[in-house]
Amino acid sequence: CGIIACIGSDDAVGELLTGLENLEYRGYDSAGIAVQNGSDVTVRKRSGKISELKEDIAAAVPAGAVGIGHTRWSTHGPPTDENAHPHTSQSGRISVVHNGIIDNHETLRRRLMDAGYVFESDTDTEVVPQLIEYHVDRGASVEEAFERAVDELEGSYALAVMAEGTDAVYATRQDSPLVLGVADDAYYLASDVPAFLEFTDRVVYLEDGEVVIVTPDGVDHRDRTGAAVDRDPEHVEWSAEETGKGRFEHYMLKEIYAQPEALRGTLSGRIDDGTVTLESFPEGTFEDVDQVHLVACGTSYHAALCAERQLVRAGIPASTTRASEYFDLQTVDERTLVVAVTQSGETADTLSALRRAAAAGGRTLAVTNVVGSTVSREADDVLYIRAGPEIGVAATKTFTSQVATLAMLTHRIAQGAERGTPREDAAAFFRELARLPDRIDELLAATAAETVSRQHIGRQSYFFIGRDFEYSVALEGALKFKEITYEHAEGFASGELKHGPLALVTEDATLFALLTGARGDETRKNAEEAKTRGATVVAVAPEGMEVGEVADEILRVPDTHPDLAGLLANVQLQLISYHTAYGLGREIDKPRNLAKSVTVE
Ligand code: G6P
Repeated sequence: CGIIACIGSDDAVGELLTGLENLEYRGYDSAGIAVQNGSDVTVRKRSGKISELKEDIAAAVPAGAVGIGHTRWSTHGPPTDENAHPHTSQSGRISVVHNGIIDNHETLRRRLMDAGYVFESDTDTEVVPQLIEYHVDRGASVEEAFERAVDELEGSYALAVMAEGTDAVYATRQDSPLVLGVADDAYYLASDVPAFLEFTDRVVYLEDGEVVIVTPDGVDHRDRTGAAVDRDPEHVEWSAEETGKGRFEHYMLKEIYAQPEALRGTLSGRIDDGTVTLESFPEGTFEDVDQVHLVACGTSYHAALCAERQLVRAGIPASTTRASEYFDLQTVDERTLVVAVTQSGETADTLSALRRAAAAGGRTLAVTNVVGSTVSREADDVLYIRAGPEIGVAATKTFTSQVATLAMLTHRIAQGAERGTPREDAAAFFRELARLPDRIDELLAATAAETVSRQHIGRQSYFFIGRDFEYSVALEGALKFKEITYEHAEGFASGELKHGPLALVTEDATLFALLTGARGDETRKNAEEAKTRGATVVAVAPEGMEVGEVADEILRVPDTHPDLAGLLANVQLQLISYHTAYGLGREIDKPRNLAKSVTVE
């Protein structure tokens, strides 16, 4: 989701709508604005595209110099008019836009309902205006009420709040981005600089826990302890044309760099000190699961392969099938859980496999990124990966979020199913998973992928090898590479090299060897087989590993749990694909002949 606020402009409505269009890449299933005019606040919101909201508003433009706006990507509740932001308190006095997830929204909602507050939407956000109003009703000023409410929130949020009777916007952030824009005659707040870059290039990046109270006359900026913050605005260098993609030239690169934020969204409220809670699956949910079938296409198939290994290790028979090859359903019954993994939730092959499974009597579960998608409506159950919208055709951040979601899901299945034995090191594994966003940040700050990719442009073939989880990553690395570079790339199980693929290896081949994970040492030996035949070897290896002579170049990944290191290796490979495609002048975000979501079988 994306939020925007405009404070003190002559054309607040026009600027809010422009801001929302610039933020559309962050979400596009519903949108809305609230505008302050003297003591009144007008809210206009709806499901659908921003262009539709714009048409509605053009018919009767609300007046006012202060306003907030939001473009939504659903995480709680489908994209409907009621679920669109801004959300208001019961009396309509308080309006709020929010990006992030309020983890304790259910507890807060129950408390507020017990106190007589009536809710209109299914969203987690609606608790925020209601909670502020609750405090105002009990004598607090708006400012005090805002601060008390924020103190009670758990989760991730960037919030902008307006109240009737004041021309201030109250804003804060925790684990979701928020930046203040400073123009000569107006102020802006937004999830991202491009939202308001047409109006000002002077910005103040807010830190977690900081609060700003912005009026047309100035900004009151404080830190978590209430102490005043005096930070001069910085000047941003990019031009307004770069909106949406921000400082990145392509959505794909932006989405690669958005992985820490996306993954935080995926994990938010689901892992606590090594234990996993999935909102839709209370205890007992998976008791009668005897076997799991995973069906998926493309990148989602590679994510599903990772889940299959985890299930089998936990004692649960599991198999992954490409959705278009899912025909043999003889063993499917009501004790078979059929998991459709699909980013878009609209892939025809996957939907059709799911329907076959349902017809055969299987129990169906969708793992998807899109709330309200066809798969989420058709499956018996749904689990969202909460990665935010992905625009680049080549899937990047959604793969990472899929694998993380499936790791949590498979653990819950292993705990629930009679025949399951959950992993012994669960606490350590999930603690490392919770830290993975920081590890990805570290990797992105230090990666040598751009330099390495330059050395390898123009080779005849590119091979990717790995074992265990890294085998799925090798397949994914090769898929990404061929999708966007149009070069010949293949992924192999390391041990299979000697059973055929070695015949393809020449001095004109580059081999990416994934040395991360529990079986990295074995893959190193296989890489030597290719090196001996003349291939150039690029190793992707953990920080501390002695790689030795086999590698011509090394891409390092931070240390983590061996079963998660493949995800870090994958980020390096995403960057290799991106920079190679860039070097070759390819159309990265929309590769030839491919579509983001393939809705035909
Ligand atoms: C298309 C896309 C791939 C994607 C696949 C499955 O082929 O180009 O990037 O992995 O569909 O999409 P889904 O939305 O089902 O995950």
